[in-house]
Amino acid sequence: MSWTRGLTLLVAAFALVSAVTATKDATIFERTFRQLHQEPPPPEPESQSRANIEYLEIEQKLDNFNESETRTWQMRYISNDEFYQEGSPFFIFVGGEWEISTGYVTGGHFYNVAKEHNGYLFYTEHRYYGKSWPTSNMDNENIRYLDVRQALADLAHFIEHMRATIPGASNAKVILAGGSYSATMVTWFKKLYPNLATGAWASSAPLFAKVNFYEYKEVTGQSIRLVGGEACYNRIENGIAEMESLFANKRGAEVKAILKLCDAFDEYNDLDLWTLFSEISDIFAGVVQTHNTGQIERVCSKIMEGETDISGVAGYLLTQFGSATCNQLTYKAIIASMMDSTFDNNIMRQWIYQTCNEFGWYQTSTSSQQPFGTKFPVYLYLQMCEDIYGERFSIEYIVNQVAATNELFGGLEPNVENVYFTHGQLDPWRAMGIQNATEATIVPLYAHCKDFGAISGNDSAEMRASKEKFAQLVREWIGSDSVANEAK
Ligand SMILES: *[C@@H]1O[C@H](CO)[C@@H](O)[C@H](O)[C@H]1NC(C)=O
Ligand SMILES: *[C@@H]1O[C@H](CO)[C@@H](O)[C@H](O)[C@H]1NC(C)=O
Ligand SMILES: *[C@@H]1O[C@H](CO)[C@@H](O)[C@H](O)[C@H]1NC(C)=O
Repeated sequence: MSWTRGLTLLVAAFALVSAVTATKDATIFERTFRQLHQEPPPPEPESQSRANIEYLEIEQKLDNFNESETRTWQMRYISNDEFYQEGSPFFIFVGGEWEISTGYVTGGHFYNVAKEHNGYLFYTEHRYYGKSWPTSNMDNENIRYLDVRQALADLAHFIEHMRATIPGASNAKVILAGGSYSATMVTWFKKLYPNLATGAWASSAPLFAKVNFYEYKEVTGQSIRLVGGEACYNRIENGIAEMESLFANKRGAEVKAILKLCDAFDEYNDLDLWTLFSEISDIFAGVVQTHNTGQIERVCSKIMEGETDISGVAGYLLTQFGSATCNQLTYKAIIASMMDSTFDNNIMRQWIYQTCNEFGWYQTSTSSQQPFGTKFPVYLYLQMCEDIYGERFSIEYIVNQVAATNELFGGLEPNVENVYFTHGQLDPWRAMGIQNATEATIVPLYAHCKDFGAISGNDSAEMRASKEKFAQLVREWIGSDSVANEAK
């Protein structure tokens, strides 16, 4: 594996150079990544009382599990007390791998349920994301304090502190909500700290940690076929297969020309090929994950405009790559984004670290039941872990860490009470969540985290029923908490 060492050195040298350049535009990789890891679409604001909405900070321990570690940091959160009456519950929307914004404390279904119960609304920011920075940078030493157990302990301290300091809140019931990774968090919080949360809504929660998450691209393909049609699916499959075949037959220069790849792209280097095809599949995943009515259909129309399969697919991809004179899609380029350990708007370094250290969830081309080809094996992502975060991240280490995550949280059998699980049928992430219809609600034809808006005439019957079910569950959870009723 000497090429690996050489590559690591090369990458390190490259990172030094890029650290010197000040502000830079987001790369293609960063833009796609941001689309896949954005804040769940914030609801339309309904609140009229902006004065009640505040960005605040709470002191947290750097290491919640080491008594002798005394360093602390300021975690950001947003609060809205416009409905609060003493003795009422807390409604906490939990932040995941994104920057928090006011959407979830000023509108949407969770806000309306909080209003019904005179609840105190909060939105917490996850350590290392947004502006919640526990350390001065994220170098390999400092990033060690980023993991879900630390983040759940931050949330536990947050709830204890609010109960202790807000008038009439010492026995406050707590309703949590989260989307995507933060839905995973609310489920696991309920498991580790059952006395600190009364109930929770987990929308689109992946619960089973898995290194090779090949099912993700299978569901992505199924959703394209279902919504965009068979011809679109086939064209994507054939167009990508033709690109692979050109590379395999020493005609890679033709693909480089069609996709306007920069000269640095080495068509004989596996890591460059894997990076390119991984990125192409992620662009399609972004379309599916964020789908609203008409979105997949529009992309498919664009793809079907091309004369041939390959030109149809390439024509669409070029609209997504942007307007640079050439497109920088090498392995070295994707690694460079993640070698930068300063806190900026890029969240790739943090999230990929969490995948290497806790979850896996690499969305590979291992399955033949998906249209994105064969060229993004799990080794691409495992190589990244080692190249970015150090030799400690061997394959064996990653496999063991992922197993430990399932051991601790129970995977698809979290064994928690009072958690309402919802998924969108089109959402590729649902393959790592609870699919049993008696334990979770799968809303037909919706994508990832699309159920947070207020109940509206635009909801399908199933979407409306799911939102009403959550509202009813909260009534039951809050009414049936005998300890808090005694305290009144
Ligand atoms: C706990 O914190 C102390 C003080 O910072 C440090 O010396 C020690 O190495 C830490 N222990 C662990 C297990 O991280
Ligand atoms: C679905 O969940 C119910 C209730 O937990 C259980 O009885 C049933 O066996 C599950 N079905 C499947 C297919 O796992
Ligand atoms: C409902 O759909 C219409 C038309 O697409 C849109 O203009 C409106 O904003 C939507 N309303 C809500 C509450 O989402």
